Amino acid sequence: HKDATFSQKLIQWYHRHHRDLPWRQTTDPYKIWLSEIILQQTRVVQGMPYYLRFVEKYPTVQDLARADEQDVLRLWQGLGYYSRARNMHYTARQVVGEFGGKFPDSYSGLLKLKGVGEYTAAAIASFAFNEAVPAVDGNVYRVLARIFGIKTDIMHSSAKREFTAAAQRLIPADDPATFNQAMIEFGAIQCQPVAPDCLLCPFNESCYAFENGMQSFLPVKSKK
Ligand code: ADE
Repeated sequence: HKDATFSQKLIQWYHRHHRDLPWRQTTDPYKIWLSEIILQQTRVVQGMPYYLRFVEKYPTVQDLARADEQDVLRLWQGLGYYSRARNMHYTARQVVGEFGGKFPDSYSGLLKLKGVGEYTAAAIASFAFNEAVPAVDGNVYRVLARIFGIKTDIMHSSAKREFTAAAQRLIPADDPATFNQAMIEFGAIQCQPVAPDCLLCPFNESCYAFENGMQSFLPVKSKK
């Protein structure tokens, strides 16, 4: 696959098929961060009402920082993994206390926030600030492994580096935000883990997994 063609076709697919999700209507790093924390271990349909309630009750990072922890935990009720909510509250206070209420505006700056790892930093940096860093989550592993035939075990320590490098080669400098949203969305609704919709896939004439009947073997994932 030619890399530029892949990105163009992916973004074309995205324009036709993406879901209208509320955190895609904003470039506010606070709201994008909130959505990514909520979606870390939660499905979109389940996380959506929580996202809307958090944004309504705490429209700015200052509002969240000022909140009582018990109120934050109560609003989180039902999502599980309560350490996420406690870390989120801590990080809001960190942004206000250490960064004057302004989220860091780069990938490397965002990595300094508690609970913000490489994926989340890249998501915020690209969606809010158009920085060309690939946001590589499980969806992206799957899409890259299948289309490009990458057989690295995703449990292996080198996997993150390899898949990130592959995504870095594909990400277009002129629209990294749409590219990253499109990779996530493509993995979620077209290239699903089980029974991917290959017959209607725009890459079915150039997909390694489809050509070789390997959809259920890629990405390679060993037992832990
Ligand atoms: N899961 C994590 N981030 C997401 C996003 N921006 N859109 C849809 N699902 C996601």
